[in-house]
Amino acid sequence: MPTPIKALKVGWIGTGRMGYEMAGRLAKGGCDIAVWNRTRAKAEPLGNYGAKVVDSLAELAVRDIVFCMVSTWDDVKEVMHKMLAGNAKPRMVIECSSISLEGSAELRRMLDAKGIAYLAAPVSGNAKVIKAGKLTIVASGPKRAYEEARPFLDMMGTGSSYVGEGELSRIVKICHNVFLGVVIQSLCEITILAQKAGVPRHAFLDFLNKSVMGSMFTRYKTPALVNLDFHVTFTPKLLRKDMDLGLDAGRSFEVPMPLAALTRDLIQQMIGYGMTEQDFSTLLLMQAKASGIDLKPENVPVGDGLSS
Ligand SMILES: NC(=O)c1ccc[n+]([C@@H]2O[C@H](COP(=O)([O-])OP(=O)(O)OC[C@H]3O[C@@H](n4cnc5c(N)ncnc54)[C@H](OP(=O)(O)O)[C@@H]3O)[C@@H](O)[C@H]2O)c1
Repeated sequence: MPTPIKALKVGWIGTGRMGYEMAGRLAKGGCDIAVWNRTRAKAEPLGNYGAKVVDSLAELAVRDIVFCMVSTWDDVKEVMHKMLAGNAKPRMVIECSSISLEGSAELRRMLDAKGIAYLAAPVSGNAKVIKAGKLTIVASGPKRAYEEARPFLDMMGTGSSYVGEGELSRIVKICHNVFLGVVIQSLCEITILAQKAGVPRHAFLDFLNKSVMGSMFTRYKTPALVNLDFHVTFTPKLLRKDMDLGLDAGRSFEVPMPLAALTRDLIQQMIGYGMTEQDFSTLLLMQAKASGIDLKPENVPVGDGLSS
């Protein structure tokens, strides 16, 4: 029988775009949760849902299970060292940021040495996807730890997938995000091709979204591509990080990744042009420029497939 969720004290590190919504779902679901964020103000609204906002990472070391959702492996390392600087330690750490296999393995060694169970549990979705209850999580590590954590993981979205021991979930997530990069670039290319040939973007995407090639992703990116709403969901720099993780893994496993390599450099080019603050789907703007098109919002109401 899994331990009832209310019997375990949860700690949460990092309430950026993703962490805020994920921790929010646990708080709204009735978990006993304490949250810490480097910029405290971003975590404070979670107090409205019953979360306790704490001032120091050390305060989270006394919780049973601590989740971590920051940016890069360096950031994970920094927060983990700070949390574990004293004598207190949680029973389990669940690390959800998108980090490398090597970083994850180093974290496992560090936590194993302290007798802390560790689940690597990266996620798929953006903040809006989490709000719509559609986040997915892939986990690896000791099966027993997964079974204990599962009610919390499943509470954050449509369910979690357990893929095995060690860092296997990291490679699954890296593969997933390489696909994300390649798909968005391809979607931008064909959308601009259709437009230059005379098809309005909303009409083209309406067809694509209804076809076998349409997906939750193509649907929720449609408002961005049609009305040029590039409110950030995931930054170009975070996507470049994931493409680099994919290419590094390709090198280490000797798997050629020609599409990923090309896409990585297109994202790099976008960053070089200073396009860093908006959504990664601004790849559309680069594609339009390269095609001699001056893009305008179509101002057509289009659904994102997420809002009811
Ligand atoms: N956005 C997406 O669609 C998406 C989807 C799946 C996975 N991911 C992955 O999820 C992770 C978080 O992404 P996000 O979009 O939520 O990023 P974000 O909005 O930029 O949030 C980053 C979080 O990490 C904290 N942070 C960064 N460096 C830190 C450090 N050195 N010490 C302490 N805290 C630090 C930030 O604190 P401050 O608030 O103080 O800056 C913030 O809470 C990334 O690994 C990303 O690749 C993102």
